[in-house]
Amino acid sequence: MTEFRGITPPLLEGAAEVHEGDAYDLLDKLPAESVDLIITSPPYWGLRTYGLDHNEEILRDWEREGGSKEEAPSYDWYRLNGGCLGLEPLPEWYVSNLVEIFQRGASALKPGGSIWVNIGDTYFARWSSIRFDGRQGLGDNPRMRRKTPMGGFRQEKQLLMIPARFAIAMQNQRWILRNDLIWEKRNVPPRPEKDRLRLAHEHFYHFVKRPKEGRPKYYYDMSAVEEGARDVVRVNVSAGSDGHSATFPVGLIEPRILSSCPPGGLVLDPFCGTGRSLAVAIKNGRRGLGFEITSKFSTSARANAMDLRFATEVPDKADAAGQAEMQSHLF
Ligand SMILES: C[S@@+](CC[C@H](N)C(=O)[O-])C[C@H]1O[C@@H](n2cnc3c(N)ncnc32)[C@H](O)[C@@H]1O
Repeated sequence: MTEFRGITPPLLEGAAEVHEGDAYDLLDKLPAESVDLIITSPPYWGLRTYGLDHNEEILRDWEREGGSKEEAPSYDWYRLNGGCLGLEPLPEWYVSNLVEIFQRGASALKPGGSIWVNIGDTYFARWSSIRFDGRQGLGDNPRMRRKTPMGGFRQEKQLLMIPARFAIAMQNQRWILRNDLIWEKRNVPPRPEKDRLRLAHEHFYHFVKRPKEGRPKYYYDMSAVEEGARDVVRVNVSAGSDGHSATFPVGLIEPRILSSCPPGGLVLDPFCGTGRSLAVAIKNGRRGLGFEITSKFSTSARANAMDLRFATEVPDKADAAGQAEMQSHLF
């Protein structure tokens, strides 16, 4: 019998559950070695508030307590002092928070389990605008301006390389990085900048556990990945759903769920938003567990998880043409 720590994941195939709360707290409540696959997309740094209240004075509060910019506080201190994940005053603090949260899930992941994390990058600006919603700081959504301290690599117009910093920080915590899958997004909107190319990709990192001895061994069904099994996939950005602008496209996550979680296994999305990963897991005979901090999205996720239509996205014409074009370069 595994020790009960607060959450019993759904046991029946085809069942899903969504818990409302902070992933940091909920991950700690899972039974040891109960999860086959963690697949998720956390809030990216400095882009959106998701309607959450954030303490913009938190750096000053930290320094008043004797902390320094260079040394990130613990996530527990950060959120107790009004900090929201993704709105850290410095990108270094974001990376530190994110890694700390994933570490809380380590014991719940089976030794042969996988973590897939989708994460995008941000350009530095001393004065940046944060939208309440919307992609990559674009759109007509209401926004707020905020000032971020400059210094070191934090310089005007700098591409911050946050995904890479996150991946390296995870490696330093013993995770083994198996793939840096590039998600190429064909349908990104045009940008006003005249001195750089459009950011049209995001990273999808695959981590597995490092065993005490020997080489890592984990579940992987190679027959379920995209044709050609390459680490670049071209999938259009999904139209948002339920007021969420960062919904996972089915075509991006379905091959990951099929290849990295055995049939009947448990798929956990600790930042589940509208619950697309859970719906795709259920559609494919896996079990689903989602965590989400806002009640708005956790309510949508609960409804969407069992909705077959939500788990099925018909690729639009641009997407299908893109895939065909890419295949023609491959073979
Ligand atoms: C990038 S979105 C995920 C979207 C999701 N992949 C989908 O398909 O809808 C990140 C989500 O994490 C939620 N979130 C932010 N901080 C959180 C936290 N500490 N714990 C749990 N969820 C959190 C946000 O409300 C948001 O819905």
